[in-house]
Amino acid sequence: MLKIQELSKKFGGVHAVEKFSFEIKPNHITGLIGPNGAGKTTAFNLITNFLPRDKGEVFYKEELIKKSSAYKLVKKGIARTFQQIRIFPELTVKENLLLAMSHDYDNWWNSFGNIDENLEEERIMELLKEVNLEKYLEEKAGNLSYGQSKLLEILRVVATNADLILLDEPAAGVNPTMLRIVEKLILGLKEKGKTLLVIEHNMPFLMGISDEIIVMESGKFLCQDLPEKVQKDPKVLEAYLGG
Ligand SMILES: Nc1ncnc2c1ncn2[C@@H]1O[C@H](COP(=O)(O)OP(=O)(O)O)[C@@H](O)[C@H]1O
Ligand SMILES: [Mg+2]
Repeated sequence: MLKIQELSKKFGGVHAVEKFSFEIKPNHITGLIGPNGAGKTTAFNLITNFLPRDKGEVFYKEELIKKSSAYKLVKKGIARTFQQIRIFPELTVKENLLLAMSHDYDNWWNSFGNIDENLEEERIMELLKEVNLEKYLEEKAGNLSYGQSKLLEILRVVATNADLILLDEPAAGVNPTMLRIVEKLILGLKEKGKTLLVIEHNMPFLMGISDEIIVMESGKFLCQDLPEKVQKDPKVLEAYLGG
């Protein structure tokens, strides 16, 4: 579904991502872990064209993805969330989701004006019901709690109909009740045939939902294996504990 080859990015003298390669399988949930500063978020930025890569190649469904605008990737079927939430606080929950549903990204402002809100409202309500947010349809997104905003950000990605979904720390700072909703949402996406790549520090959560785990250390690929194998891998423990 996604193949990364020797992806590299330097910030000044820092190799944030260095010759990073991996593959992920369709309809799998793959976890991406590594100590703080390992380069996970930068890798997401390179894959989704939010940052230009220095070197390396990205293949999506065997198609070479060129360095181009991030929005063009959404059109191809790759969408992501951000470690720091990026919803539109002054727009309503409904408007935030409508924006994600307008598919004419080359003509985005025009297409936004042309959306038939009534037609889309049914689908939006369906999305909101899945995460118990239906009563916030007309609420300003800025008034949502932190956990609710994170859910909205994931829903926005779902609303784009992307096949490959990249989530950057969906569980961070989320309370246990909300965490179960995030988990249900992610597992539901897999059931619908989606492929997910998930960065997360909450290990019990990530190990519980993932089919495979990729470990990154100092910008580099360390290993990729089943969750139960990764948890027992001395290399991984060393990466986290510093030997
Ligand atoms: N925009 C940037 N400018 C300079 N350095 C950056 C930038 N983004 C990330 N870095 C550095 O790259 C390294 C990897 O960061 P990051 O990808 O955020 O790691 P992770 O998500 O695994 O915690 C860190 O050393 C970080 O300080
Ligand atoms: Mg990060």
